Amino acid sequence: MRVVLGITGGIAAYKATSIIRLLIEAGHEVKVVPTQNALRFIGATTLEALSHNSVDPDLYTDVESVKHVELGQSADLIIVAPATASFLARYAAGIADDLLGNVLLTSRAPVLVAPAMHTEMWTNAATVANVETLRSRGINVLNPDSGRLTGKDSGAGRLPEPEAIVEAALALTSVRDLSGKRILVTAGGTREAIDPVRFIGNHSSGKQGVAIAREAVSRGARVTVLAANIEGLQISGATVIATDTAIEMERQVNHLLQGTDVFISAAAVSDFRVAEVSATKLKRSQLGDQINLRLIANPDILAGVVSRVREEGLDVRTVGFAAETAGTQWALAELAKAKLGSKGCDVIVANDVSGSAVFGSEHNDALIITKDGEQKRIAGTKTAVASVVLDILAEL
Ligand code: CTP
Repeated sequence: MRVVLGITGGIAAYKATSIIRLLIEAGHEVKVVPTQNALRFIGATTLEALSHNSVDPDLYTDVESVKHVELGQSADLIIVAPATASFLARYAAGIADDLLGNVLLTSRAPVLVAPAMHTEMWTNAATVANVETLRSRGINVLNPDSGRLTGKDSGAGRLPEPEAIVEAALALTSVRDLSGKRILVTAGGTREAIDPVRFIGNHSSGKQGVAIAREAVSRGARVTVLAANIEGLQISGATVIATDTAIEMERQVNHLLQGTDVFISAAAVSDFRVAEVSATKLKRSQLGDQINLRLIANPDILAGVVSRVREEGLDVRTVGFAAETAGTQWALAELAKAKLGSKGCDVIVANDVSGSAVFGSEHNDALIITKDGEQKRIAGTKTAVASVVLDILAEL
């Protein structure tokens, strides 16, 4: 998608760098259009390097390309962050005396504006009226966050976090093809206690499951995430429930399954748990040179869901994940097909974790196979993989 990022002259202009990075990482092309005053706060060189595009706020250079019209007409999405009180006033009045003003007036793309200013300016009657005008015209104006401002003061006026701005902006363009669908996603990795201090766990960061949940929210789904050991996870628009062990996750999944349209089992679930969990800390001094932990099998949550779907005739699509050390794409496809068959799910998302480049990374290289034999390979950000998984589910 082609995103125009307008930056206006406020101290929060430096945070636009994070917005550019997030957009580029999600696979979008970014064209930065700062105002002249924005360049007092952040250099064009920085913006060019991060966006991989030239930056020139002057309306009167490169005139032959009619760039004010070209930029506005070709944009799929426009974000203005930070937006000053002065910018809000110009935009509400339809003033086009600089490149950004022209781009905004020539574009039909959705626009997200993220204001940042001192509380007094944000609550000033003029600003309040300008924001009302813009909103009444369908412009999406975020409310600023509250907190520490530039000086010693604090209050409403901080620029919202770059992640929140990008999420809100991308939601404006997304297809709502999962509108009203209820999706249950497990994410993260379960932990099985050995004693009150130690556990058996795994390397799963939960990022792929979380990316699917975020994408599903932006496509209109009602999403619940069972987050296994993902510290402080929040997903705006989704319900996040913390979970820990495989047994606890199974209980929660069974409780939530009724009324769910899609179950996505992205969590890395421990296949075994410790048979006798010690109530007190195992003391090194008393253990000697070897210990034997007896492990017993955990329930297979995904297989359990598939059986319930069949036995109770539930209308639920099921998606499993397969983290394999395959070595080749051919071997990965064979392992994925075998797992699709043994679990009985509708879709399997397989990846090769040899060398463990996937764990904790923002990227993934996934092979998606449906039970009807459709195969798709996607290498990109976890968001890009999430969007292909959801495309397939939307078809199903
Ligand atoms: N899974 C599950 N319950 C388990 C183990 C796995 O629900 N006890 C789910 C995972 O969430 C994933 C899929 O099953 O969607 C495959 O997980 P994986 O660990 O790759 O497969 P296993 O069933 O453990 O098979 P194997 O160890 O033989 O690869």
